[in-house]
Amino acid sequence: MPLIAPSVLSADFANLQRDVEMLNSSRADWLHIDIMDGVFVPNLSFGLPVCHAIKRHAEKPMDVHLMIVQPERYLEAFRDAGAAVLTVHYEACTHLHRTIGQIKELGCKAGVAINPHTSVHLLGDILPDIDLVCLMSVNPGFGGQKFIENSYRKVQQLRQMADALNPKLHIEVDGGVNSQNAPLLVAAGADVLVAGNFVFSSPDPLQTIADLKNIE
Ligand code: DX5
Ligand code: ZN
Repeated sequence: MPLIAPSVLSADFANLQRDVEMLNSSRADWLHIDIMDGVFVPNLSFGLPVCHAIKRHAEKPMDVHLMIVQPERYLEAFRDAGAAVLTVHYEACTHLHRTIGQIKELGCKAGVAINPHTSVHLLGDILPDIDLVCLMSVNPGFGGQKFIENSYRKVQQLRQMADALNPKLHIEVDGGVNSQNAPLLVAAGADVLVAGNFVFSSPDPLQTIADLKNIE
């Protein structure tokens, strides 16, 4: 059974409390929180005050995905805003090993996200030090994009690497996840599924989350 992390990016921001309470009552495991700076990605989402507001209502761990340059400047602030998992982009960190150490010192689980063009093989030297890899299965910046099919292969390759280097590693897939690709991703070795548009645009988000959760 995978962990399910619905992306709050697709929630109704004018009814954020209502949507977070819906997630509290669902079978979701984590809340996925997308932070965009308009520099690392060509879009802005929301920042620290909104994270604090979500935290006041959230009863599940917050999985914070930082799509920002120089994320080391904001790690402590996002921990204080409620992050349980802090994920930074490989492509945004010149001193990734140091940044991962800082995340762990703050008491958070440490994640590294990679864009669709970044090879999983670049992660070999950092894999033993991290808790999670977030494989982007779309180019980050927007919800509701089409899933990139090459992602299955990346999940398989990364799971093989993790078996040797860090068997407890979480492999999270983020972008365009739906009921068609989710079982294939789990079979390939993913154990955390992010889903934004697929959950929030469905007629019955609670059932949609439960269906994802029930994947063998
Ligand atoms: C994309 C974000 C994703 C996004 C996923 O930049 O990192 O977390 O919210 O949304 P869907 O599931 O709609 O592709
Ligand atoms: Zn994300």
